[in-house]
Amino acid sequence: MEAKTLSLPFLFFIVIFSQILLSTSRRILDDPSDISSSASLWSRNAERLIKSFNLMPKRDINVIPKGSHGALRLVESQRNFSATIGAVNTSSGPSVQEFGHYAGYYSLPHSKSAKMFYFFFESRNNSTDPVVIWLSGGPGCSSSVALFYENGPFTISGNLSLTWNDFGWDKVSNLIYVDQPIGTGFSYTSDSSDLRHDEVGVSNDLYDFLQAFFKEHPKFAKNDFYITGESYAGHYIPALASRVHSGNKKNEGIPINLKGFAIGNGLTNSEIQYGAYGDYALEMKLISESDHESLKQDYVECQGFTKKCNLDGGLACASAFEVCNDIFYQIASKTEGTNYYDLRKKCVGSQCYDFSKMETFLNQENVRKALGVGDIKFVSCSTTVYDAMTEDWMLNLEVKIPALVEDGINLLVYAGEYDLVCNWLGNSRWVEQMNWSGQKDFGSAKTVPFLVDGKEAGLMKNHGSLTFLKVHDAGHMVPMDQPKASLQMLQNWMQGKLATPSGQ
Ligand SMILES: *[C@@H]1O[C@H](CO)[C@@H](O)[C@H](O)[C@H]1NC(C)=O
Ligand SMILES: *[C@@H]1O[C@H](CO)[C@@H](O)[C@H](O)[C@H]1NC(C)=O
Ligand SMILES: *[C@@H]1O[C@H](CO)[C@@H](O)[C@H](O)[C@H]1NC(C)=O
Ligand SMILES: *[C@@H]1O[C@H](CO)[C@@H](O)[C@H](O)[C@H]1NC(C)=O
Ligand SMILES: *[C@@H]1O[C@H](CO)[C@@H](O)[C@H](O)[C@H]1NC(C)=O
Ligand SMILES: *[C@@H]1O[C@H](CO)[C@@H](O)[C@H](O)[C@H]1NC(C)=O
Repeated sequence: MEAKTLSLPFLFFIVIFSQILLSTSRRILDDPSDISSSASLWSRNAERLIKSFNLMPKRDINVIPKGSHGALRLVESQRNFSATIGAVNTSSGPSVQEFGHYAGYYSLPHSKSAKMFYFFFESRNNSTDPVVIWLSGGPGCSSSVALFYENGPFTISGNLSLTWNDFGWDKVSNLIYVDQPIGTGFSYTSDSSDLRHDEVGVSNDLYDFLQAFFKEHPKFAKNDFYITGESYAGHYIPALASRVHSGNKKNEGIPINLKGFAIGNGLTNSEIQYGAYGDYALEMKLISESDHESLKQDYVECQGFTKKCNLDGGLACASAFEVCNDIFYQIASKTEGTNYYDLRKKCVGSQCYDFSKMETFLNQENVRKALGVGDIKFVSCSTTVYDAMTEDWMLNLEVKIPALVEDGINLLVYAGEYDLVCNWLGNSRWVEQMNWSGQKDFGSAKTVPFLVDGKEAGLMKNHGSLTFLKVHDAGHMVPMDQPKASLQMLQNWMQGKLATPSGQ
C-alpha cells in the first residue's frame, strides 16, 4: 500500500483512499472527534482527483460573500442559444430558434439564501411529452456533465460550438437539469449553513425547485413527470420521488404528475451493494479466489457498521463509510490503471475521462452572460458538497421505494454491465430482495432481451411497476456509452412498453 495510489479514477463517486487516511481510520473509529481532520484530508485528495480528471473548478464550492455582486438574474429567461452561445451545428438538425431553451435560478424558500441553477429544454417532439428531471451524482457534481456528455440536446464540439445530439433525451421529453445539492455547478448561497447533509435537505430543496418550476411553467404541470439520474442520485431519486408523492397526497402545492423514477448505475442500498463488490470483482477476474475470501471477511465488519448506521445515523455512518470503502480500495489496489467506471477501458496516466471542455465552455464570458449567472463560477464538482454528505452515503434509500411502487409509480433500475463502482450485480440484488407485494412474482419473472434495432442491447426483468435492465457494452454512464439504446429505453419505459419484447 503506497501513498501514490491516491489518484483513483473517481468523479461521480469520488471515493478517495490514501495511506494516511487508512492509517488513521482505526483511530477515527475509536475517537470520533477526529472525523473533521479526516474530512479536510479527504477534500485535499478529492481536489487532486478532480484535477486528474481534467476538471479544475476555480472554487471548491459556491458560497459567495453576502452582498457581493452575485448572480444577475434570479428568475429564468428564455435563451437564444444560437445568438449568445455561439454556433449550433445545424447540419444534422433543425435550427434552435424553433425550441424553448431556458436557463436560470430559483430561490429556495427553505434556505437562508440559496439559489438553484437549472437548464430547461423543451421537447424536440411535442411539448405534451413528459417532463423529465435529470440528477447527476458525486455527490457534488454538476448535472451539466450529463447534459454535455450523456443525454442533453447538445454536445460540445472541438471548437467549443454546440452540435445537436441525435439521441438527446429532449427528443422524447421536456428535460430539466439542475445543479444540486446547493453549492454545486452554478448553484450558490451566501450562507454556508445552507449546505445539505442528508436526503431530507436534498429532497426538500428539489421539491421547492419543482414547485417554482411548475409555477413558472403551468402548462407543463399537466404533463406526466419522471425523475431520472445516475450514481449518487441512487440516493436522491427515491428521496425526491417519495417527497413528491407525499406532497401530492397532502395537497401541499402544485400537484406533480409523478409517473415514475429511473435510477442508472446508482447507489441505493449501500449494505447490499458493498457486499456485491467482491463477487463482481471476482466474476470480472479483477481479483483471485483468495482475495475474494478475504474481502468476504472484511465485509462482515462493513455490514455491521452499516446496520448500525441505519439504526443510529450520525457517526456510525461515517465509520461505516470508512470501513466499507476499504473493500473498494483493496480491489482498486489490485488493478491499477483500470477505469473502474468502465472495466473495458484503461486510464491514460491519471486521466480516465476528459470533461474539461464543459468547464471551458461554461466559463466563457459570452456563455456566462447568456446564462445569466453573473460572477458565479462554475463548480464542476465540489469536494465540500461531497464531504458534507459523508454521513448520508451508507444510508439505505431503498426503504422509500415499496410505498411508491405499491401506489403504481414505476421504477426502472438500469445498469451498464462494465461499471464496478455501482455495478449491476449489487443493483440487481437489492432490487430482487426488495420487500414489496410483487417480490415473489418479480423474482420468478423471465429475463428477456432488450432489443434495439433487432439486436440484444441488454437483459431485463419486469413485474408490475418494477423493471430491472442490465445494459450491454456500457459502463457507469449508460447514455454516454449507449446513446441510442438509452433513448429508446427512456421512451419505451415512459410509454409502458419497455417490458414487452414487442414494444419497440
Ligand atoms: C436568436 O438569434 C438569432 C441570431 O442572432 C436571430 O436571428 C433570431 O431572431 C434570435 N431569435 C430570437 C427568438 O430572439
Ligand atoms: C456537424 O454535424 C455533422 C452531422 O452530424 C457532423 O458530421 C459534423 O462533424 C459536425 N461538425 C462539427 C464541427 O461538430
Ligand atoms: C402535440 O400533441 C398533441 C396531443 O397529442 C397534439 O394535439 C398536437 O397536434 C401535437 N403538436 C405537434 C406540433 O405535433
Ligand atoms: C466551429 O466549427 C463549425 C463547423 O466547422 C463552424 O461552423 C463554426 O463556425 C465554428 N465556430 C467557431 C466559433 O469557430
Ligand atoms: C411525439 O409526440 C406525439 C404527440 O404529439 C406522441 O404521440 C409521440 O409518441 C411522440 N414521439 C415520441 C418519440 O415520443
Ligand atoms: C415486508 O413488509 C411487510 C409489510 O410492511 C412486513 O409486514 C414484513 O415483515 C416485511 N418482511 C420482511 C422480511 O422484512
